Amino acid sequence: MGLPEMLAWVPPGSPDEALVRELDPARLPAHVAIIMDGNGRWAAKRYMPRVEGHRAGITSVRDTVETCARLGLKVLTLYAFSVENWKRPATEVGTLMVLLKRYLRMELATLQKHDIRFNVIGRVDDLADDVKKELLHAAERTASNTGMLFNIALNYGGRAEIVDAARRAMASGMRPEQLTEEVFGSLLYTGGQPDPDLLIRTSGELRVSNFLLWQIAYAEIYVTETLWPDFRRQHLLEAILAFQKRERRYGGIAAPALAGR
Ligand code: IPE
Ligand code: IPE
Ligand code: MG
Repeated sequence: MGLPEMLAWVPPGSPDEALVRELDPARLPAHVAIIMDGNGRWAAKRYMPRVEGHRAGITSVRDTVETCARLGLKVLTLYAFSVENWKRPATEVGTLMVLLKRYLRMELATLQKHDIRFNVIGRVDDLADDVKKELLHAAERTASNTGMLFNIALNYGGRAEIVDAARRAMASGMRPEQLTEEVFGSLLYTGGQPDPDLLIRTSGELRVSNFLLWQIAYAEIYVTETLWPDFRRQHLLEAILAFQKRERRYGGIAAPALAGR
């Protein structure tokens, strides 16, 4: 995994190869989180029903997962369904769940091939039994993989996650002074994982829509006008290159001497 692997994969002389060559292997984000948005607009532009946008978005998921794994990222988190998305018509929600199940069944072999560990974050218990079964199956089958961790955020809400962590803290019987930021972070669905370094949102909306509220405290945010079903390896590489040009300060002062370390 890493840039040599990427270079062996992308077609020689292609624009993607040029992008890979520009990347600084020492400054890849450990965790990339993506708000996959714009499926409905993609379909509307083609006078198609919204669900066709969701269907087309699966190719983007496949491409993104494989690119991130080949780059050697530690964690990829994709926002697939929010706790607020239940407000949508039942037929759209139903199709999303069917597509998810189909994706998992079809892609399990690819996840294994790339040594990817699959994980779900969100209120999984509230999902339908057949969906839960498929999710657990994929998580169990990939549990011993040691490559990239692929989180799918499903029935996920950032506030719900914080409330769930607070409940866990209270149920543990710990004393108030024992609850530090570090301990609280470990009680979130993403406990033990690095926070996202780069948060990507497709289709131009400048909001976080209740995604990873705690974890994105210092994430670099990258918004592209590209609609999710059009998002490909090239767009991901462009986002990572833009990320590498940012100066992260974490509340401190500019430290050019430290750049690249
Ligand atoms: C993102 O696309 C997919 C989900 C939220 C499940 P949308 O369905 O939100 O597409 P737009 O924003 O309406 O274009
Ligand atoms: C965010 O997109 C949720 C997912 C991508 C799963 P939405 O389309 O639901 O967000 P809003 O409604 O535009 O804020
Ligand atoms: Mg949307």
